[in-house]
Amino acid sequence: MSTRTVRVSLGKRSYPIRLGRGTLDGVGAAVREHSDATRALVLSVPPVDAHYGARVARSLRAAGFRVKRFLVPDGERSKRLRQAERLYGEMLDQGADRGSTVIVALGGGVVGDLGGFVAATLFRGIPVVQVPTSLLAMVDSSVGGKTGVNVAQGKNLVGAFHQPSLVWIDAATLETLPARQLRAGMAEVVKHAAIWDERLFRRLEREVDALMALDPAILLPVLERNCRIKAQVVSRDEREGGLRMLLNFGHTLGHAVEALRQYRGVLHGEGVSMGMVYAAAHSERLGLAPEGTRERLEALLDRIGLPTALPRFERRAYLRAISVDKKKRDARIHFVALRGIGRAETVPLKPEEILPAGVLGKSR
Ligand SMILES: NC(=O)c1ccc[n+]([C@@H]2O[C@H](COP(=O)([O-])OP(=O)(O)OC[C@H]3O[C@@H](n4cnc5c(N)ncnc54)[C@H](O)[C@@H]3O)[C@@H](O)[C@H]2O)c1
Ligand SMILES: [Zn+2]
Repeated sequence: MSTRTVRVSLGKRSYPIRLGRGTLDGVGAAVREHSDATRALVLSVPPVDAHYGARVARSLRAAGFRVKRFLVPDGERSKRLRQAERLYGEMLDQGADRGSTVIVALGGGVVGDLGGFVAATLFRGIPVVQVPTSLLAMVDSSVGGKTGVNVAQGKNLVGAFHQPSLVWIDAATLETLPARQLRAGMAEVVKHAAIWDERLFRRLEREVDALMALDPAILLPVLERNCRIKAQVVSRDEREGGLRMLLNFGHTLGHAVEALRQYRGVLHGEGVSMGMVYAAAHSERLGLAPEGTRERLEALLDRIGLPTALPRFERRAYLRAISVDKKKRDARIHFVALRGIGRAETVPLKPEEILPAGVLGKSR
């Protein structure tokens, strides 16, 4: 089965990302290579399981695993301790011990984060294999080892770093991903290009239509390039010392929009899209990025069909939402600014400096 490989280099915790198209049936053999476990627990959600659960289970069985499929309800609400507890219970009831079971997370970022979190914490760590099926999970959440769940006080507040043993990407699974989810995932693709890789950005400008149509000639190289960027950043900065913060480009305002909308009606990638356009405009205002940077970014996001204008909330509301993101009162926020397309840096700014009076328009 032909796959391309991107290595995430983290010493003993290194692992490969294997990318291909139509490669889902090879996942069992690949997991076998990376694991001595006898059982595999395939975690998924109904919409993904319906398309791919049986194939993944069959492939794992053929590779000698005893397989159990385990479903949680679809959606962000499943990323919670209650679902984690159900999973612990299931595995312990089956007689799992530290080396016996590998978790296979088959789905988007929700499944990946929940499966990763359970793997990080059960017996203080069992192996997990990520099989991302959303674009966001392929280029972002499945790589890097951040796992976690949400609590009533906020998203991703409880979690652990736990690197997977393997990431197995079958690009063909994107064919069943809802179009809006595909567009939202594209926001993170554009983000990687904007902060790191002007060449990729130019390629997107030329071929975004083919990419959105999932043309394999561009899809695989773009997925690979994105995984490589994320892998590079993570390899150099596993625990968010500095470099990894660049991945938060567009996320300060993006998170604010998601929170102000109470996480309803706006997808993460849509918030990030609006946040990136704002951040690019602000980078120009700060004299960091040349004029035209915002325009180029906005034009590309626009062609993808992503929203680019911040929703109309009062400046005060935005300031409050931004401040929630910071750990200490009065601390500055590491605002990710562009130096131009393909180059980013963090700038410590107070919320009022991120969103000066007047920039949202007269009445706000
Ligand atoms: N760990 C990290 O580093 C990291 C980074 C970014 C985001 N995240 C997390 O990722 C989550 C968002 O991930 P997401 O956008 O993938 O959301 P998601 O997992 O909810 O998936 C989005 C939707 O697409 C469906 N879906 C996924 N793949 C499909 C396929 N191939 N065919 C048909 N339907 C499919 C899902 O069922 C769901 O309805 C958030 O919880 C976020 O916090 C984590
Ligand atoms: Zn993001």
